[in-house]
Amino acid sequence: MPAIDAATIRELITVDGELFVPERITKAIGHSVVSEVTDISNKIDQLVAIYKQYIKYDGPTPVTYSDEITIDAYAINYLPRSTLIPKLLFLSLAYHPAFQTIKNEINVLDLGSGTGGVVLGLLDLFNHDPLSAIKANILSFERSRLALDRQKELLTQTNYQHCNIWFICDDVADTRVYGKSLLKMAPYDYIIAANLFAEMSPNDIKLVLAQLPNIMGPNAVLLVAEPPRAYVDKLKVDISDTLRSLGLFQYYPCPPKYECPKPKCKWVWFDFEFNCPSIEVNGEIFEITKPLTTTWSIFCRSEHSIYDFIQDMHASLTWGVAVPIGKEFDIKEKLDYSICTAGGPRKVTHTRKKALFRNRTEVILRGSILGFNDDYSEVLAWHPLYGLELQK
Ligand SMILES: C[S@@+](CC[C@H](N)C(=O)[O-])C[C@H]1O[C@@H](n2cnc3c(N)ncnc32)[C@H](O)[C@@H]1O
Repeated sequence: MPAIDAATIRELITVDGELFVPERITKAIGHSVVSEVTDISNKIDQLVAIYKQYIKYDGPTPVTYSDEITIDAYAINYLPRSTLIPKLLFLSLAYHPAFQTIKNEINVLDLGSGTGGVVLGLLDLFNHDPLSAIKANILSFERSRLALDRQKELLTQTNYQHCNIWFICDDVADTRVYGKSLLKMAPYDYIIAANLFAEMSPNDIKLVLAQLPNIMGPNAVLLVAEPPRAYVDKLKVDISDTLRSLGLFQYYPCPPKYECPKPKCKWVWFDFEFNCPSIEVNGEIFEITKPLTTTWSIFCRSEHSIYDFIQDMHASLTWGVAVPIGKEFDIKEKLDYSICTAGGPRKVTHTRKKALFRNRTEVILRGSILGFNDDYSEVLAWHPLYGLELQK
């Protein structure tokens, strides 16, 4: 069974310490678009405006992926960063001994697969040693036929069409699929729902969540990755509560058995900058937006947590995930923080404990888990991309 560790995965997914999207993917996107350049440009502006408008709205974002221009615009502006999501998942898992040996054959389910950002990212990752020794069976589940057609075209363009990928065009909220089509490849070792729930109603999400534990294998993992929206802040607490009540364990970011006292999770968003070539379409260059701003939670079928190994190494420290109480997570003179620790929330006044928040870029990177002693004279931070670092 192939063995991995964080250093190995980090090396595969970064160049000079930065995440990157390979040209093989951006070239394929450029070749696969079908609309006129001006139409795509306008549609990208519209999509950006819709997503922006819904940042503060407490309800699902209403985008339908039912015309070629929308598919083109999504593929150009958003697909590249989605390819990083499965890569960061495998990196986050690779720190933990329970996930450092991977089975020779794994089943992966990509829910709301769309144009296939997650699938392409997975295939790109598993195209390299030591992961290339693994047979990865991927089920791409998506309700938009057009999006799936584009995904197939992208797989052909990237020369991944002969990989073990199956497609189902259906509704994830139709519970019949869990007893039929989705059961065929179950149990799954990895289930990824990326940027899906932000577009679904709370009722439909509950229906989906209730089914997932039944199709997960014994050491399976579920990743829920969502864009920054007020709606998602609320969903995160509900999703964690629901999945825990269904017998799953949260691996990241909340401490084990943490009971969130808040109706909304203001937990930090990941904010990764990444390298990505521009996309050329008919001689025109599209500069795509290059931060990956997302929030995510990882759940497991078995009782594992990212805190297991960091806490073992530094048992004398209190560990928790930092949550900004103010608007921004950047250093600001009067910003307070709450740190969700296993013993409950700990409030830290930024002005008094300023040194706590110093790190490589003068801010605690979003997504970090902090360990500190009572007088904050010793502070460590763990971040998926950089591992464990001494803050001061
Ligand atoms: C924002 S896109 C994300 C695509 C891809 N996962 C990614 O991260 O790039 C959301 C996708 O979820 C699909 N979707 C939304 N609701 C769905 C449902 N009820 N059943 C199946 N797919 C759904 C949409 O058609 C769309 O392709």
